[in-house]
Amino acid sequence: MIQMESQPTVDRGLANTLAAESRMCFIDGQKGVLEYVGIDIDALARNSTFEETVFLLWNERLPRREELESFVDRVREEYDLPDGLWQLIERVPRTATPMHALRSLVSSLALFDPEADDPSEEANERKSIRLLARVPAVIANFDRHRKGLPFMRPSPDQDIATSFLTMLNGQPPTTAMARAMDVCLILHAEHGFNASTFAAMVTISTLSDMYSAITTAIGTLKGPLHGGANEEVMHMLREIGTLDRVEPWVRDRLARKDRIMGFGHRVYRTTDPRATYLKTFAKQIAEDTGNQDLYAMSRRIEEIMHEAVGAKGIHPNVDFYSATTYHSLGLELDLFTPIFAMARVAGWAGHCIEYLKDNKLMRPGCLYTGPHAVQYVPLDRR
Ligand code: ACO
Repeated sequence: MIQMESQPTVDRGLANTLAAESRMCFIDGQKGVLEYVGIDIDALARNSTFEETVFLLWNERLPRREELESFVDRVREEYDLPDGLWQLIERVPRTATPMHALRSLVSSLALFDPEADDPSEEANERKSIRLLARVPAVIANFDRHRKGLPFMRPSPDQDIATSFLTMLNGQPPTTAMARAMDVCLILHAEHGFNASTFAAMVTISTLSDMYSAITTAIGTLKGPLHGGANEEVMHMLREIGTLDRVEPWVRDRLARKDRIMGFGHRVYRTTDPRATYLKTFAKQIAEDTGNQDLYAMSRRIEEIMHEAVGAKGIHPNVDFYSATTYHSLGLELDLFTPIFAMARVAGWAGHCIEYLKDNKLMRPGCLYTGPHAVQYVPLDRR
């Protein structure tokens, strides 16, 4: 039996465990700071594009102009889905939820990739680009399929945000809408060892493959305590319905010890900096699209939560204002989490490749609290 090096203690939820080192993302949860490779998230949201941000995360530096152009070209060359995948989308039940469809279809992408089991770093980079490039077409075309609309192939003339919205809506978005989508993708691209990233890393640490790792991550992101919270926020706003009902609704839930979705975070004890940015963003988009009521309700929820539980360090997280933003962009509620996944492929793939450079199987211990020396009783004597 292998002896443990020191006497470990149980760390439920791994809240006090540093599982590995990384150079991709810095978070100061007390001060509300988030940096990708040292660059403040606010500066990236204001100035960068999703493609440039992905290059930054995967290469630990901003690209020069020709490097960015070449990266963008490589992504666009991989936009289209393999023939077999279009056929599989057609066979997914129209009643399936988009997250179940996405998880199953991303897993199926491996079936059409001859490099699926090539463990080299170069092949893993190519697969990461394929996943980044193809997930938008999978989400948008599953949505078209369930609505009985003909498939729409991605256009290599468009960036990821524009191409996604074009496939989803059957027509190109306005410049403002495309930029709003692009900013949301930047804000959701990476966030350290969150639950879905960690799940992907556990899978890759067994020397499985990139498709299995990203499939694991999608299944993990889906949960309402993680990426699924943005959908739950929208359900909550719909259930509340009007501004005057906000206060009694929230206070009643808090009195019953229910969680208010879109609030609280394992790392942030102050407002999530992505939420700070999204709040201003959501206000503008809500005004431009006539969704002021939704924004007003969100602000009121935030005020009441601040009064009631702000002192406990519970503040809005990234999911809270992204719900208002996505709704104002005309996106359907059950696509909110798939869009999160579309962006987070950047972080998932980046962490997998980074971890593989110095891989060690992820395998924590557990403190056994059951009985010992129990007699085996044959079935007919129990
Ligand atoms: N509403 C009300 N109370 C809350 C909330 C909330 N959203 N979140 C935490 N609390 C309370 C808990 O009830 C607990 O109170 P207690 O100490 O009186 O028992 C205290 O704050 C600490 O909560 P924990 O669950 O221990 O904190 P943890 O770090 O494990 O939870 C989590 C983080 C899961 C995100 C939690 O805040 C939550 O459930 N939030 C709602 C779901 C959500 O928005 N998830 C998205 C997170 S961002 C992301 O993943 C992209």
